[in-house]
Amino acid sequence: MDVILEMRNITKKFPGIVANKKVNIKVFKGEIHGLLGENGAGKTTLMNILFGIYKQDDGEIIYKGEKVEFRSPKDAIKAGIGMVHQHFNLVETLTVWQNVVLGRGEFILKDEKKKLLDVINKYGIKINLDARISTLSVGEKQRVEILKALYRDVELLILDEPTAILTPQETRTLFESLRKMVKSGLTVIFITHKLKEALDVTDRITILRNGEVVRVVETAKTNEVELAKMMVGKEVVLKPIKRQKKKGKKVLKIENVTALNDEGVEALKSINLVVNSGEILGLAGVSGNGQKELEEVIVGVRRIEKGKIYLDDIDISRMSIKDRIKSGLSCIPEDRLGSGVASKLSVVENLMLRDFENYGKFNLDFEKMRKKAKELVEEFDVKTPSLDIPVSMLSGGNLQRLILARELSRNPKALIASQPTRGLDIAGIEYVRKKIVDTANSGTAVILISEDLDEIFHMADRIAVIYEGQIKGVFDKDVVTKENVGILMAGGSL
Ligand SMILES: Nc1ncnc2c1ncn2[C@@H]1O[C@H](COP(=O)(O)OP(=O)(O)OP(=O)(O)O)[C@@H](O)[C@H]1O
Ligand SMILES: [Mg+2]
Repeated sequence: MDVILEMRNITKKFPGIVANKKVNIKVFKGEIHGLLGENGAGKTTLMNILFGIYKQDDGEIIYKGEKVEFRSPKDAIKAGIGMVHQHFNLVETLTVWQNVVLGRGEFILKDEKKKLLDVINKYGIKINLDARISTLSVGEKQRVEILKALYRDVELLILDEPTAILTPQETRTLFESLRKMVKSGLTVIFITHKLKEALDVTDRITILRNGEVVRVVETAKTNEVELAKMMVGKEVVLKPIKRQKKKGKKVLKIENVTALNDEGVEALKSINLVVNSGEILGLAGVSGNGQKELEEVIVGVRRIEKGKIYLDDIDISRMSIKDRIKSGLSCIPEDRLGSGVASKLSVVENLMLRDFENYGKFNLDFEKMRKKAKELVEEFDVKTPSLDIPVSMLSGGNLQRLILARELSRNPKALIASQPTRGLDIAGIEYVRKKIVDTANSGTAVILISEDLDEIFHMADRIAVIYEGQIKGVFDKDVVTKENVGILMAGGSL
């Protein structure tokens, strides 16, 4: 087999941490190569070095037989390398088509659109070229990023945890596209910490732990247990979750709520939901059926057209976001980097974002804030070299932990958790699920929005199904099957 890429002895240090230690990785032409590791293992850093975003402190890169030094992504793209990041880089106000051709710096002819349509058809990428980015789901945005790379004639495509934001259906579609890509000669590096997916789609896997390569395996010759052990460094067992079931009072009431999406089309149609204290209500549905809008109307970033929302019998439908937060509402938003954090602010500042007022009226007590932040970082195992770096420097999974730490530590009356375990490794998923259940056990009313039916069935007491902006049914978990929920999610009826 031809080797398309070799990274030799790559070392990269950040203040306080060695992100990559003498890493060696060899990628064959035409393979899907998995890069597997826990949150903070150094996966993104290694690929950012390849893509010209960072420069390694030591080591060399051989691409297509030649030693290369990419000074910026521009150089990497020119050489035929494309990268789709964990956080997207799209202009929300422009269309798909405009985003794809953006930055080409050339006059675009009609022929170009045909070329793009050819790419779309060849790899089976479903996307409307004329749709505005702001109207797309995260899954669709990712397709735009992939399209951008393919359109620039990539030979090596790097995908950084592409499935973290995808529904199971979207994941399957992506995998089909990836298989078509390698069949036609492309090479793919696939970053993940999901073992099943690594086993499902890759040919070989390099496993990273604490910045070092643990091993390289042929996918056909390994299994989930072995991979988990290599990735985590010890045997991994998922423990069952302990639920205390108490019938509490009604905390969050959503009455006949109707709202529009960004396009002005009705996205929520007379939604009625009640969540009791101490209860987890799972909202199941395929992404794009109104979940995002529901999260937004509850939190207050989207206007309600009709209906009312009550928190503890107080009408919050017209309250400001700030007042809702003060009244005891917490949210783990789906779009973490967009609305979850202020990416230029530090770890401390982001952790305190909701509670500045608790630290003094005129003079903030920074010492107290730092102390609290330190506790939270330790409790939620946020891996960060310092409390003062901007959160944009955290790894994807650690950013997620930070938001959870902030939102769950406030003892909210009600919590909206949207896709809370997306992008987390096994240990992280277990931890977050336990935290959310603990929060419910302590009396919080929780709405768990998730496309992962296993997660919903694992955690929720009742399950509501949303389809095209309507609630198709609410069930006690014990009386409904996954199959039936799946049917409703797809628009069928029972
Ligand atoms: N720009 C940066 N400045 C300082 N530290 C950084 C920077 N980028 C990454 N790090 C640190 O390097 C380590 C490895 O991070 P990296 O993003 O490569 O992890 P990862 O394997 O991609 O994790 P995840 O699965 O959570 O995305 C982390 O501890 C992270 O905090
Ligand atoms: Mg990463």
